[in-house]
Amino acid sequence: MKKIILLIIINLTGVLGFAQENLSTKYDLMPWPKDIKEHPNKFVIDSSLTISITSNQSERVEHAATQFLRRLTNRTGVFLNEGFPLENKKGDIQIQFDEVSKLDIKNNESYTLTVEDSTIKISAKTDIGATRALATLLQLVDHNATEYFIPGVTISDEPRFVWRGLMIDVSRHFQPIDVLKRNLDAMASMKMNVFHWHLTDDQGIRIESKTYPKLTALASDGLFYTHEQIKDVVAYADRLGIRVIPEIDVPGHATAFLTAYPELGSKDDYDYSIERFSGVFDPTLNPTIDITYTFLENLFAEITPLFPDEYFHIGGDENEGKHWDESKSIQKFKKKHGLKTNHDLQTYFNVKLEKILNKQGKKLMGWDEIMTPDMPTSAVIHSWRGENEGLAKGGTLIEAAKQGYQTVLSNGFYIDRMQSVAYHYTIEPIGDVKLTNAERERILGGEATMWCELATPLTIDSRIWPRTAAIAERFWSPKEINNVDNMRTRLEVVSFNLEELGLAHIKNRAVILRGMTNHQDISSLLSLSNLCEPLKIYARNLDGIEYKTYSPFNLFADACVADASDALKFNKAVSKFTKGGASTSVANYLQKWTNDYKAFSQLQKNPKITPLEPLFKNLALVSELLSEAIQTKKISKESIQTIGNTMILLREPVADVELMIVDALNDLSQYCESNYSSK
Ligand code: ACM
Repeated sequence: MKKIILLIIINLTGVLGFAQENLSTKYDLMPWPKDIKEHPNKFVIDSSLTISITSNQSERVEHAATQFLRRLTNRTGVFLNEGFPLENKKGDIQIQFDEVSKLDIKNNESYTLTVEDSTIKISAKTDIGATRALATLLQLVDHNATEYFIPGVTISDEPRFVWRGLMIDVSRHFQPIDVLKRNLDAMASMKMNVFHWHLTDDQGIRIESKTYPKLTALASDGLFYTHEQIKDVVAYADRLGIRVIPEIDVPGHATAFLTAYPELGSKDDYDYSIERFSGVFDPTLNPTIDITYTFLENLFAEITPLFPDEYFHIGGDENEGKHWDESKSIQKFKKKHGLKTNHDLQTYFNVKLEKILNKQGKKLMGWDEIMTPDMPTSAVIHSWRGENEGLAKGGTLIEAAKQGYQTVLSNGFYIDRMQSVAYHYTIEPIGDVKLTNAERERILGGEATMWCELATPLTIDSRIWPRTAAIAERFWSPKEINNVDNMRTRLEVVSFNLEELGLAHIKNRAVILRGMTNHQDISSLLSLSNLCEPLKIYARNLDGIEYKTYSPFNLFADACVADASDALKFNKAVSKFTKGGASTSVANYLQKWTNDYKAFSQLQKNPKITPLEPLFKNLALVSELLSEAIQTKKISKESIQTIGNTMILLREPVADVELMIVDALNDLSQYCESNYSSK
């Protein structure tokens, strides 16, 4: 009997999964909701549309409803009569929720949304849930030639994981407040709820300290947030239902700390100065002296009140202990306290930090290096290593949960590695691992990590978005929502709509190219940039020594993004064509690149664009030969030889980018060789 019930359940989930997938080709929702049902009504948007909130006053819902009206009027061109939610009257969109929440990890974010002919009803347990519903409602807006409307649906939704975050490293490159705010807006539109603020690293301290003013006077280049600015960002995030977790990274990644206060260092005779390169460096706080703990206790006492959230991140990553090994007094201390390894010494440090933080009412969180046998399970483990071994097998996430720690996943979600959205999207955090309920509950969720060695305010949006929207779906939506093609289709629309929030992930690509050409026609370069991607997995800036903090980051690679759009389309077109499909799309692309190169040749050259000349020329050469072959259904031996030789050159990285269509060009060439007669 049990077996039969199980089979029925499996079958049902299969059918539901299929039904949801059919609908997901119709609606550009992201993250995809837990349940959506259609009915034949539709709510037409006209100037009389109003919103009402029939619950306690909530600044979050007031704000979300007002922003909803602004975006709706801008998107539809409908001149709405009311620019704000109604007071004391029922509107067409009626929002109801049970309670105004204090933001914390236990918040209920569920909601239901029902679209009828003349009313839309939103109902939620909390005001945060109501704001999540408004984000969905805006994504439902559709149109035909004469009107904008919201299709008749009923949605019941809630997240799979409670922790859906984005980390931004503001140390390697400082990111101004407006950059943070527009990214917070984008996060909220994707129902993300944690902003992890990586505030210190070797390259700079970005948080003001009145107790230790040398931190910013000597170790920030003048680029840091004041207490007032931090409060402003935290309040802004709270209004969006986003918790803010600060990270003060210790005891490693401490060059900037020690530039300001060298007396806290593990080496007396070391000349500390702000790090300008990228990588893992030796300067490390000395965990054996009292002044280190006095310093951290005072600093934490000063800054923890700025961050109301219970969780506080102490980093703890990548301390190789070189300076500890080189210090006689630290070696002596280890012996005296029976600390055999540097891990033991770091645990000694972490346990002391946890006590200090507990006094401030905070829960200690750290990168997975802090998970050592003596670390109490009250700590939270942020899993970032073990990606290559396979998450469910080798990753520290499952191990942490099994050992009793709360844990958050970031390995697989390092968006600075410039991997494809498909790669991130198909990472299933838990997989088929068998977990007890308690273990599963300890897996809080995950965070995309935006390390900013190579990302400036000009480029950061295009490194975060749109891929992070797909990651947000991975953490919000049911595990069964995992069709890559379908996600890509929805993501294209989502990406475009993110521009409404002021995100510069699309427009700044053209800004960079205009700068590169000294304001000439950029259409040819834009076309090339749609075929190229920045080198991945830190192959750009190998060993961290090609670029320094203040190197130019407005080069061709900075105008290119992961998931080069035309490369994806061309590769698909070639695959179809070589399997017997039509040649039109492939032929059009080849013709276009031949012409683009002609336009590029006309540009007045400069040292920034000249390095692209051979790449473009070789692409045009191969395109021209293949285009001719497809048109004439003939290809000569010389052409095949030339294509083969040129392809070797096209595979080489140029200007820190790689051409993403080389395999497809190769397939096309082989197809021509096998199917067309030689001339
Ligand atoms: C890390 O990427 N070092 C946490």
